Amino acid sequence: MPERRSIRFLHRGEIVEVGNFSPMTTLLDWLRIERRLTGTKEGCNEGDCGACTVAIGSLRDGRLSYEPVNACIQLLGMLDGKELVVVDDLAANGTLHPVQQALVDHHASQCGFCTPGFVMGLFTLYHAGGPAPERKDVTDWLAGNLCRCTGYRPIVDAALAACAGPADDGYASAADETAQELSRLADGKDVFLGSEERFFAAPASREGLARLYARFPDATLVAGATDVGLWITKQLRDLPRIIHLGRIVGFADIIETEDALTLGAGATYRDAHAALSRLDPDIGEVVRRLGSRQVRAAGTVGGNIANGSPIGDTPPMLIALGATIDLASADGERTVKMEDFFIAYGRQDRRPGEFVSRIRVPRPNSGEHVRCYKISKRFDQDISAVLGAFKLCSAAGKLTSARIAYGGMAATPKRATTAEQALTGADLSSPETWQPAIAALETDFTPITDMRASAAYRLQTAKALLVKALTEIAGADTRQTRITGFREGGDERAA
Ligand SMILES: Cc1cc2nc3c(=O)[nH]c(=O)nc-3n(C[C@H](O)[C@H](O)[C@H](O)COP(=O)(O)OP(=O)(O)OC[C@H]3O[C@@H](n4cnc5c(N)ncnc54)[C@H](O)[C@@H]3O)c2cc1C
Ligand code: FES
Ligand code: FES
Repeated sequence: MPERRSIRFLHRGEIVEVGNFSPMTTLLDWLRIERRLTGTKEGCNEGDCGACTVAIGSLRDGRLSYEPVNACIQLLGMLDGKELVVVDDLAANGTLHPVQQALVDHHASQCGFCTPGFVMGLFTLYHAGGPAPERKDVTDWLAGNLCRCTGYRPIVDAALAACAGPADDGYASAADETAQELSRLADGKDVFLGSEERFFAAPASREGLARLYARFPDATLVAGATDVGLWITKQLRDLPRIIHLGRIVGFADIIETEDALTLGAGATYRDAHAALSRLDPDIGEVVRRLGSRQVRAAGTVGGNIANGSPIGDTPPMLIALGATIDLASADGERTVKMEDFFIAYGRQDRRPGEFVSRIRVPRPNSGEHVRCYKISKRFDQDISAVLGAFKLCSAAGKLTSARIAYGGMAATPKRATTAEQALTGADLSSPETWQPAIAALETDFTPITDMRASAAYRLQTAKALLVKALTEIAGADTRQTRITGFREGGDERAA
């Protein structure tokens, strides 16, 4: 099939075709500089404040669905096959959109710099369907939108008022038509714009990606761009060759079986959240706090692993659960244990032309007790200082095996192998038998001091998290061990 030399997306009911742009062009720059649509604001330019929020419409199970994304760290090319809705589009014939009107009615805007972002975040909540959101749903949805003047109470009140009933606007009435247009845009062709020296490419299949990446192993793979976007806007790096993974058929598939969860590397947090929560509620809670709604709508689990960050949230949890990664290239596929993938700071076991294709996570069985705790300075939308993940197996009150992994404690996400060994045979009802394992964390890790935490804090926290996991697994009620995020439905008591 011939390549397509342009990207195409829907905006204001029309197909927009763009054929000539720098591969690094962000959606925000294109909107403000090229299209002069300046309603969308630039605040932090790093995905943190939400001022640049736009809504992206796409098909999910054949139905149109809107998600908020940060335009400052999305690349223009990533829009291919999607619908774009920006704040300048909403008011029609002098009439405000219901979410805009609600913000006015509740006096929820002062300087208005953040307001366009809130409007677009609320637009996506307005279209989310399902039961009317409660206050906690609204605060979760808007955790990635910062306002420095009005205060959040009137904004949340406006959200509750506007989103109480089913969506009733031009976008809702045009939903079927839009869905048909989006299906027509999905032509299954590889996209390639530019020259061999500078290009934006978006292959439509794993095979197409493998071929292209084998030819250009120095190209930058981009999934959700929630990391790569910042390389452009903050590190001012030149990324002349970009291969976007968002159009690959089946790359975001999520397959749940009785014994495992298999995630396509392109599965976003938004889409994988429910399946990850079904592995264990603590994993679901960490993912709920990962970034913001905007970050979770774009960011992928594969990107979190492939970036090799020592403070990524999913790798320690997946290591503790014993996950494996399928790596693919033009030469075929191989499978590696998740913990073996991380070799050293900034170095992963990934050969030229190889990409992360799938992640397979064994489902914990009934004798295995999982606990995951994220420690960050701010509760929502903050990178972890330390993340502790535990899978402990017990029989007759004694621990028979342990898998423990931490983020933020070393140059890579890493298992605490000495502590794991020291824990085997420990008695769940005798905290003094836990002590060798707690002390062993000092052998396993020599953490560093940085802006997120001091080395001493990290070590002390890692020990405290192990004690907390053991205390809970020994039977303590999580309403007593946690300030928030207690495990729904009570605790399993270890055998
Ligand atoms: C505001 C904000 C808040 C954040 N909060 C958190 C947080 O709380 N916890 C956390 O862990 N992270 C957080 N992040 C970081 C980021 O969202 C995650 O690391 C995310 O999972 C990256 O996924 P992505 O799809 O956006 O990756 P991208 O940015 O597209 O790519 C990241 C890296 O992975 C490579 N890559 C992507 N996919 C593949 C693949 N399939 N094969 C090989 N290489 C690949 C890219 O080349 C790049 O090196 C935050 C980011 C922002 C902007
Ligand atoms: S400008 Fe702050 S999130 Fe984009
Ligand atoms: S109204 Fe001023 S920052 Fe939100």
